[in-house]
Amino acid sequence: MKKFYLTTAIDYANGSPHIGHAYEKVLADTIIRTRRLEGEECYFLTGLDEHGQKVAETAQRQSITPQALCGRVAENFKALCARLTVDYDDYVRTTDERHKAVVRKVLQKLYDGGEIYRAEYTGLYSTRAERFVQQRDKIDGRWPEDIGEPVELKETNYFFRLSHYQGWLVDFLNKNPDFVVPAFRQKQVLEFLKEPINDLCISRPKSRLSWGIELPFDSDYVTYVWFDALINYISAVGYGEERFGDYWPVDFHVIGKDILVPAHAIYWPIMLHALGISLPRHLLAHGWWLARGGEKISKSLGNAAQPLDYVDLYGADAFRFFLLREMVTGQDGNFSHDLFVARYNADLANDLGNLVSRLVNMVGRYCLGKIPAPASEESLDQEIKESARRLIPSVRMEYENFAFHAGLEQIFSFVGQLNRYVETRAPWQLAKRKDDPVAVDNLNTTLFFAAEGVRIVAELLRPIMPEIGPEILYRLGVTPVDTWKNLPQETSLAGNEVLPGEILFPKIEWEEHGEMPSVPI
Ligand code: ME8
Ligand code: MG
Repeated sequence: MKKFYLTTAIDYANGSPHIGHAYEKVLADTIIRTRRLEGEECYFLTGLDEHGQKVAETAQRQSITPQALCGRVAENFKALCARLTVDYDDYVRTTDERHKAVVRKVLQKLYDGGEIYRAEYTGLYSTRAERFVQQRDKIDGRWPEDIGEPVELKETNYFFRLSHYQGWLVDFLNKNPDFVVPAFRQKQVLEFLKEPINDLCISRPKSRLSWGIELPFDSDYVTYVWFDALINYISAVGYGEERFGDYWPVDFHVIGKDILVPAHAIYWPIMLHALGISLPRHLLAHGWWLARGGEKISKSLGNAAQPLDYVDLYGADAFRFFLLREMVTGQDGNFSHDLFVARYNADLANDLGNLVSRLVNMVGRYCLGKIPAPASEESLDQEIKESARRLIPSVRMEYENFAFHAGLEQIFSFVGQLNRYVETRAPWQLAKRKDDPVAVDNLNTTLFFAAEGVRIVAELLRPIMPEIGPEILYRLGVTPVDTWKNLPQETSLAGNEVLPGEILFPKIEWEEHGEMPSVPI
């Protein structure tokens, strides 16, 4: 049976993980977790992009072989995933034999079909972007940061007939307006396609670069790194084997906006079409994390926030929460330590963390550690019950649309409501009136509905906070559900024994705009 198949970009092996990589993986992992909770069978692929000039140069600088460098980098990126509880099903490396075999097969097939030809070409070559560029790649008359200063180069190479398929691609995009998510990015692709596109140079002479996959039809050349890298999406799931149909077409390629055009929205669809493979269902292009000054956070700028420092200091779930709460999927987001602390202290330490510990303490103190059965309901209780009931479908809907920030906003607004409910009822006052049956009823009802609310919050947080969600449920004596299809609006929490535990989110002491802490950003 066809699974819900989702991929991330495969990271370049010439650097170390930064917040952009962490974000993309967490976003993809959260999507997968929501789909699994919705009862779908899923497959999640990520991996490492290991060939190309930059990797060869980095290895040379470090006086090690490219393969040794990639081995180290793969361990770093895998460690990042493990620490962020990013639970992929497969990790593909472009030096894997299984991948190289498919790349050779694809090249030979296209070559035999006349889709690849040999020609001499003089053009402007960007080492940084590792491709020939054109004047049209300039932004406001200048070469952008990811291209740098290109040099003129004359070379015989192999070319893929990209231009031949331009009309077909425009037609495809017009017929499939939701191919690129969000929609405004599809418009950018169509805008790019208004001008004629060139054929794609898919080879590099070994005299200039040997770190790559040799062309099956000319051993003097290796494959252009992008052409090689894109193929990971099919090589990892057995292109050419029977099992391929269990995965393909891929449901979403999750990528950053910088690699949408031309790689994913132009090269890739045309490569697949020329091979007779059906197209991806969607490309999900997310935005960039920007440093305080507004520039992109990246290796080349050297301002990369260190995701693992945040995980070490505040836990994976707090960091995952921040990434998804602060970024609107598809748009850019700002990163600074101030923003992180403000969000963490307000939502996690003060609102959620306090609610959970307060609830567990009160049940312990006033009800011998067992969640009481609700008694008579007043309008205050019914309001809470009603909000909880509405929250479940509403958050599931936001998640389905990748609006995680909006889902979280709703959850935390409900957490606020629960805190006010507890404040208003003041169980600590009610508990003093043991002989007043109304007070006893109110106390029991309040603790019951507060516990119910926390249960629903914890369930809905699971895809974003895969450790804290179940931990909260555990403290309420609840087993997480297998699927949200079976998520009850109301359960009989009554009688469950609560378990006190450590503070979930210790408050961060930090003065805004004060001296920078030991956390580099
Ligand atoms: O592009 N904010 O690898 P990569 C958000 N190997 N996302 C960011 C980001 C930022 N500041 N910086 C980078 C490559 N990313 C290729 C992909 S796929 C067949 C080959 C995202 O390590 C970026 O947009 O430079 C990309 O999706 C991913 O991180 C890997 O970037
Ligand atoms: Mg990049």
